[in-house]
Amino acid sequence: MTQTYVVTGAAGFIGSHIAERLLRDGQRVRVIDNLLTGQRENLDCLRSLNGDLSITVGSITELETLRSLFRGVDYVLHQAALPSVPRSLADPLETHRHCVTGTLNVLIAARDNDVKRVVYAASSSAYGDQAGDLKDERLLPMPISPYGAAKLAGEYYAAAFTHSFGLETVALRYFNVFGPRQDPNSTYAAVIPKFITQMLADQRPTIYGDGLHSRDFTYVDNVVAGNLLACAAPAAVGQTINLAIGGRITMNQLVAQLNAILGTNLEPRYTAERPGDIRHSQADVTKAGQLLGYEPVVDFAEGLRRTVNWYRNSLPRGQDL
Ligand SMILES: NC(=O)c1ccc[n+]([C@@H]2O[C@H](COP(=O)([O-])OP(=O)(O)OC[C@H]3O[C@@H](n4cnc5c(N)ncnc54)[C@H](O)[C@@H]3O)[C@@H](O)[C@H]2O)c1
Repeated sequence: MTQTYVVTGAAGFIGSHIAERLLRDGQRVRVIDNLLTGQRENLDCLRSLNGDLSITVGSITELETLRSLFRGVDYVLHQAALPSVPRSLADPLETHRHCVTGTLNVLIAARDNDVKRVVYAASSSAYGDQAGDLKDERLLPMPISPYGAAKLAGEYYAAAFTHSFGLETVALRYFNVFGPRQDPNSTYAAVIPKFITQMLADQRPTIYGDGLHSRDFTYVDNVVAGNLLACAAPAAVGQTINLAIGGRITMNQLVAQLNAILGTNLEPRYTAERPGDIRHSQADVTKAGQLLGYEPVVDFAEGLRRTVNWYRNSLPRGQDL
């Protein structure tokens, strides 16, 4: 059945993949993005699909914009945020505005327009300093950055809107998402796009520490699948749910796998560990299986191959890295 979806932050990495999938499925899609970290090319890519799409270049910090955008909308998939720990350290108020005030506006506008459900992009950064390598949702959140605190505040607001107003919400805690269209160029770029673009240019990747830090790297198609399941699953309402592969890849393994895919033999450069870097971050995805019927649709190795292919084909030659 055709439904109307709003995807916030759809000029960004994850939002553009969710909107693309919905358009390919023949759904009506409205997107909003203020291009703070998002790219116009991602919106062009959505336009090129010739689906039922409307684009608003605007900010979720403007409640009235959202009130009119959400009229007649069935589902809101809320991805917009300023997703950067260093930027939140430099300017906590700005992070608060986009992540917390923006989310509160999304919830108010959804409540006032009788939206069926809001799915919120939460973050594994909520676990922060929690001891124990395997993160499950019963652990007490302990964010260590203003960004982590802001993303957690969004979760709490979402659950509170379910309890106080009956608005159906689900918070999905993403773990280290990667895939095509992730920005490799910003100072705050995530490790996978950074390593791929460096290694494609025959440069040695830089690892902070001994390379034994590990992450639950999650190919973006898994996050898209989780969002679609979260729109429908009855038992997910009011819940916070990890969304990941449930695996553990060290930085050294990542470089080794990239060398294998690229046919290179680039030794990493090791430098001082970054203060505050969490050693291991691995999700327990049992709850996602139980409440959403989720299981990963693309594993890490296949996701990495697809991602390398995308960067190989889309990076302009001679790009200054
Ligand atoms: N990428 C990850 O590994 C990861 C992990 C955990 C959680 N998340 C969450 O997933 C979501 C998407 O992250 P991403 O990696 O695609 O980041 P991204 O920066 O590519 O996308 C975020 C988008 O939100 C837009 N935006 C920011 N402030 C806005 C505002 N006030 N109004 C409208 N649009 C605004 C940006 O322009 C951008 O297009 C974020 O909520 C992030 O916190 C991402």
